[in-house]
Amino acid sequence: LEVCVVCGRDRVGVVIARPVRMSPSVLSADFDRLAEEEAALEQAGSDFLHIDVMDGHFVPHLTISPPIVAALRKVTKLPLDVHLMITNADAFIAEFAEAGADYLTVHVEACPHLHRTVQSIKERGVKAGVTLNPATSLNTIEEILPDVDLVLIMSVNPGFGGQTFIASCLQKTASARAMIDRTGSRALLEVDGGVKIDNAAQVLAAGADVLVAGSAIFSTRDYAATIAAMRAAGQSSSTTPLRVSAHR
Ligand code: DX5
Ligand code: ZN
Repeated sequence: LEVCVVCGRDRVGVVIARPVRMSPSVLSADFDRLAEEEAALEQAGSDFLHIDVMDGHFVPHLTISPPIVAALRKVTKLPLDVHLMITNADAFIAEFAEAGADYLTVHVEACPHLHRTVQSIKERGVKAGVTLNPATSLNTIEEILPDVDLVLIMSVNPGFGGQTFIASCLQKTASARAMIDRTGSRALLEVDGGVKIDNAAQVLAAGADVLVAGSAIFSTRDYAATIAAMRAAGQSSSTTPLRVSAHR
């Protein structure tokens, strides 16, 4: 069965749904009750836990350090999807790997020797991800694509939860999908920032495999219902598929 990589439709126009994976961002969790929050997310059907690490340098805030990741590791079975928004990622890879990260995702803007950084993550048995700020071109990851397990498209400028999705990042997501499929990469495509129930269908139609959502989940009482609604958005056939130049 031949399925279009861009719109997920087969030749007769039937939408072939790709599995939707949810990675709630703990940045918006209640930090007084972090263990309870993690348990609730696990029960609610999350696939990953997205952990936002900020250094007060690459981005304005300071957030989670390796000991907190190690503590989270003890209270959940979910894979830890650790997003490093830090200037000197190389210096911290060993610590985050030991803390129990399953995925370590680094910013191309902060890693001048990206190939070395990615290898150093993988040498520690951790899955390697690369991510791009909204204004950074997808071209910057083309050569590293065969080496990575995850590509993260930032759909806000990193640094804060609760921001509005930047509309142009939808097209970028579709282009990233096309690039991943064209090169035969097995990397998961994740989108982070401003993802809500309202726009989940569009983000999924653009080709995302994994949705990160912080405020959209934690601002609701029923995490399971919100996660289910976002997942269900992947089944929606009413969304107009995005087209990129590679689209047949
Ligand atoms: C932004 C972080 C995001 C953020 C997502 O710097 O990388 O993961 O916490 O939060 P929402 O879903 O509220 O935009
Ligand atoms: Zn993030």
